[in-house]
Amino acid sequence: MNNYIIIGGSSGIGLGLTKSLLAQNNKVFASYNQHPIEVDDANLITFKLDVLNDNYQFPDLPDTIDGIVYCPGSIDLKPFQRISPLNMVKDYELNVVSAVKIIQAMITRLKKSKEASIVLYSTVAVQSGFNFHSQVSASKGAIEGLTRALAAELSPTIRINAIAPSLTNTPLASGLLSSEDKIKANDARHPMKRIGKIDDIVEASLFLLSNKSSWITGQIIPVDGGMSVVKG
Ligand SMILES: NC(=O)c1ccc[n+]([C@@H]2O[C@H](COP(=O)([O-])OP(=O)(O)OC[C@H]3O[C@@H](n4cnc5c(N)ncnc54)[C@H](OP(=O)(O)O)[C@@H]3O)[C@@H](O)[C@H]2O)c1
Repeated sequence: MNNYIIIGGSSGIGLGLTKSLLAQNNKVFASYNQHPIEVDDANLITFKLDVLNDNYQFPDLPDTIDGIVYCPGSIDLKPFQRISPLNMVKDYELNVVSAVKIIQAMITRLKKSKEASIVLYSTVAVQSGFNFHSQVSASKGAIEGLTRALAAELSPTIRINAIAPSLTNTPLASGLLSSEDKIKANDARHPMKRIGKIDDIVEASLFLLSNKSSWITGQIIPVDGGMSVVKG
């Protein structure tokens, strides 16, 4: 049994991951912000945490943590001329600065594990350019830089990798998937002819947390239905 912390375990990918880690008999400490986690399992400890609030309160945690997954993120798409510097800073705080604070708070516990792994999320829109994605691409681009730099600093004790999904059917993406027509159009844009399912990203995350990926660190793994590389 390993000990995992899921920041943002109440929705989408984080909720899927929480359920899968519990099914594998792990102990999971999962945070929520606005939506309490409705999962009943003796190995699950839930706690409220707003990562934008400086006063972080964690539940009693074991001395050893084997993995952390940081799920909070945003998809705030708009034309470049309408991006406000304030929103850009807020996005950076949510995606990057708060991830840094969480990792810093857990580093001593992670170092006690024999197989510590951190998983972050980027987006397909960092390595490929998409209209209206300047704000999210900038924050998630920083996540990719952080992943590589921190992999250097934390090796060989702690591995850190990021997954770069394309559009995945979660509450975060609901505005982009609010009608059958929108879903069909987004399915069609992907070489694999469908948008992502939560399980697509959960499976990749489980692999990066497990010691099956023990020789992988500092990588950005695209899980995107072929979107980033397949043309035509
Ligand atoms: N879905 C996509 O199409 C897509 C594409 C590319 C990248 N990603 C990235 O994948 C990651 C997971 O996305 P998702 O689609 O699973 O998102 P989601 O369904 O919106 O879930 C996000 C989770 O983060 C929590 N959270 C949000 N703001 C928070 C805050 N201020 N403090 C603490 N927790 C907070 C939410 O908690 P509450 O619900 O309790 O408020 C929720 O548990 C994100 O980093 C996202 O940018 C997603």
